Amino acid sequence: MLTIKEIETGYGKKQIIFGLSLEVKQGEIVALIGPNGAGKSTILKAVCGLIRAWKGSISFNGSPINNCAPAQIVSRGITFAPQGSRVYQDLTVLENLEVGGFQLKRQKVKQRIEQVLEFFPLLKEHLSQDAGRLSGGEQQMLALARALVPEPKLLMLDEPSLGLSPNLVGNVFRKITEINRETGVTVLIVEQKVREVLEVCNRVYSIKLGKVAFDGKPEQLKENKDTLKQLFL
Ligand SMILES: Nc1ncnc2c1ncn2[C@@H]1O[C@H](COP(=O)(O)OP(=O)(O)OP(=O)(O)O)[C@@H](O)[C@H]1O
Ligand SMILES: [Mg+2]
Repeated sequence: MLTIKEIETGYGKKQIIFGLSLEVKQGEIVALIGPNGAGKSTILKAVCGLIRAWKGSISFNGSPINNCAPAQIVSRGITFAPQGSRVYQDLTVLENLEVGGFQLKRQKVKQRIEQVLEFFPLLKEHLSQDAGRLSGGEQQMLALARALVPEPKLLMLDEPSLGLSPNLVGNVFRKITEINRETGVTVLIVEQKVREVLEVCNRVYSIKLGKVAFDGKPEQLKENKDTLKQLFL
């Protein structure tokens, strides 16, 4: 579904990603793990068009998306919930969800919001409340819900568990698995909560200094603590 081939990219003149390739197949949950500053968020930003790949190619369902604007990439079926729960604090929960559907027709937005809220009963109770008054965990759920409004084929999540208490981390991962199972949406997820994400993903890539340092099945890392440690050195 998503094929990244030999991309190089960075910020200004500073190169961060060095000839990186990866693949996400339809229906999978794929995790990107690795130390701080490895380039994980940068990869997601390149896929959703927030930064350009200098070299290499990114294609989605067989069509190149390297040169597409972010809005075009959303309409092709890729959405992104960035690192840190970036919801609009001064907009209500409902308004935040409507922003998620900015490219859809009015009637469709309404219908999609209803469908998405089925997964988030708690948000349903706070629709007219300002998002800034939700707890951190609730804002995280809202960011996730908002990314689902356009009915993406590929949902990219950057550290959805960031800042959550240990009991809530489990909730987020359970929610992601449930949504993947019930809607078939493919998920590419960046996570620092390695143990937890290895429980829910089908495949994992470990990123180190802008390259793939490991790719394989989560079981390979779960059984091999030394390899895992190496990947984070
Ligand atoms: N907007 C930016 N301008 C310049 N440099 C940046 C920018 N964003 C990130 N970087 C640099 O790119 C490198 C990789 O950052 P990135 O955010 O991709 O890392 P990461 O793997 O997501 O790390 P973390 O786990 O801490 O979120 C870092 O050295 C960072 O300083
Ligand atoms: Mg990051």
